[in-house]
Amino acid sequence: MTEASGAAVTDADAGPGALDVLVLGSGVAGLSAAVRLAAPLADSGAGGSALGTGLRVGVLTKAELSQSATRWAQGGVAAVLGGDEDSTDLHLADTLAAGAGLCDADAVRVLVDEGPARVQELIAMGAVFDRQPGGALALAREGGHSTARVVHAGGAATGAEVERALVGATRSSAAAVLEEWFALDLIVEGGRCRGVRALSAEGRTVEVRAHHTVLATGGAGQLFAVTTNPAEATADGLAMALRAGVPVADVEFMQFHPTALHHPAMPRPLLSEALRGHGALLRDDHGDRFVDELAPRDVVSRAMAERMRRHGVDSLWLDATGLESFDARFPTIATSLRAIGLDPSVDWLPIAPAAHYLSGGVITDLSGATALPGLWAAGEVACTGVHGANRLASNSLLEGMVFGARLAESILAGDEGPSPTGVLGAYLESDREPVAPDRAAPWAAPLADGPADAVVSSSDVSKTRELLQRHMIEGAGVVRSAGTLSTAGVAIDAIGDALGGSTPVDRAHGELSNLVTTARSLLSAAVLRCETRGAHARSDYPEASEAWRRRIVHTVGGVSVLGSAVGSAPDGRRPSAAEPSDR
Ligand code: SIN
Repeated sequence: MTEASGAAVTDADAGPGALDVLVLGSGVAGLSAAVRLAAPLADSGAGGSALGTGLRVGVLTKAELSQSATRWAQGGVAAVLGGDEDSTDLHLADTLAAGAGLCDADAVRVLVDEGPARVQELIAMGAVFDRQPGGALALAREGGHSTARVVHAGGAATGAEVERALVGATRSSAAAVLEEWFALDLIVEGGRCRGVRALSAEGRTVEVRAHHTVLATGGAGQLFAVTTNPAEATADGLAMALRAGVPVADVEFMQFHPTALHHPAMPRPLLSEALRGHGALLRDDHGDRFVDELAPRDVVSRAMAERMRRHGVDSLWLDATGLESFDARFPTIATSLRAIGLDPSVDWLPIAPAAHYLSGGVITDLSGATALPGLWAAGEVACTGVHGANRLASNSLLEGMVFGARLAESILAGDEGPSPTGVLGAYLESDREPVAPDRAAPWAAPLADGPADAVVSSSDVSKTRELLQRHMIEGAGVVRSAGTLSTAGVAIDAIGDALGGSTPVDRAHGELSNLVTTARSLLSAAVLRCETRGAHARSDYPEASEAWRRRIVHTVGGVSVLGSAVGSAPDGRRPSAAEPSDR
């Protein structure tokens, strides 16, 4: 832990308000908020507002500051930076189409309009993006984008560069940086969030009190046995919100990345979508192409899962042999492939889909405020509505920087609670149809039979986590059904029962408990949603249903379905079929 002088990280007997803002998590969303709140920065010259006023900000992270999913992000940041034929309207249309009818159009408008200024601010902060020989930013194309608009760094090491710039700025501006601390639960008093109870790096239970608390804890890829996410992605913020009854939506939409390297290493090394944007081809076990490589991710992953099932194989191929200058354009990927004996200029690369990104999360307004005053959320933990049922490639770093900055501006402006805008506005204004417990978790009915290995000792946390991950990939992977979801539901309930409800004694136990909480919510939403939409594919309901253009919300009273349909249906450009295109 490092603390600047005057920082106040307190034991339980200290009064409230010790920090102005406590940020949980150290990825792009959390650190974008932290640096904006903590210290004045040079004006970007890109029309950004005045940055930072020196609030006392603490950043709490369960690992080192630089260890977040952001660091692993490869492809880049989708942002319309001008000087080409692209327009923010086109970026908006692509995002809505990828989101399969569940995006909040106001949130997407904010995303695409404010993204370019946030990228310019990062550049002013020292982030170095790849440029063409003439000096213009180099732009890549990825799946679902109708044009090349993705800025990138180090070829496919964009997240690492973004994180480098933000970590430096955070270390020099935050009042307290609490590394290796683990947040256990939100402190809610008088209808307001007032910080968290946490395990300190030394293992003491401590209250960290703050006037505002920002959830920026990232995603939930560790729910699944096959994932691109680092070991830290255990849905901690989402689970804390669920336990506190803060509304959470869209958690059934776990996006599987189509091209994770099929390799024993876990997390699975990612072969960036930018490779396909550059011309790499997907081939099945016979060497045939079978899908448009630049279709949105959900379409590609589903086509791959179907092909693998029909052909009885557990991997397919990415053929990047035709790419010019692979090593120069993608140096980090080339190095990691060569380290395991693969030469992308001659070898086809074995791939399979892997859990990658949770499109849903804690519901926010357009400024990142949640329904609980004093609690804000940004990045993968949040449901701002920009991703809908399936995130467009390279919109995630963008979302983190845009909404991290917006919540900071809102706090600086003195806002204390949510406004009726964005997904939160729709939630507050909509009727809600409560879902009876036997519909939300039908496996809890007496007739359900659980797998024999479901009851495990809670003392073996790491084995139990692996068991949970196996059940989730089998039951709630790329393609689910009522049957597979119910089998997983029985198993996860048994794991939850074995774990008990006691306060976690260490981080491993706390993470497992958070995974169980989140798994239950995901399974409930997935069994309720009787359709195929975006990243949620049901073999027993293979079509999208207009009646289901609604959000499923978890809140203090249980699960409910919002009465109002979301926005408008996706425009006609979303591919319904996934035939290979001429390339
Ligand atoms: C990729 O480079 O394929 C991943 C980037 C993203 O998830 O948007």
